[in-house]
Amino acid sequence: GLVATADVPVGGGVVLGRQGLVVTQPRAGTFTCVSAVCTHSGCLVDTVSNGQISCPCHGSRFDLTGAVVRGPATQALPAKAVQVTGGVVRLA
Ligand code: FES
Repeated sequence: GLVATADVPVGGGVVLGRQGLVVTQPRAGTFTCVSAVCTHSGCLVDTVSNGQISCPCHGSRFDLTGAVVRGPATQALPAKAVQVTGGVVRLA
């Protein structure tokens, strides 16, 4: 599995740097996983705060579903299908 559901804040998320993924929980009980590779120039996004995923390189921001909130990135972070079993978020 990727991460325990209890470790993913509602309205936030966690960056899994080793896997290059971000797991978020936009609403209670709804889990989303997106690539952590910024679509601008390939840096790894590194923080999730205030409901946004941020890239440290040039300041792009994405919402919890990976959609662009602020450039320079113009394309969403690609989503990965996940499922939740036994309190753990896993790639589907
Ligand atoms: Fe992420 Fe440029 S690589 S903003």
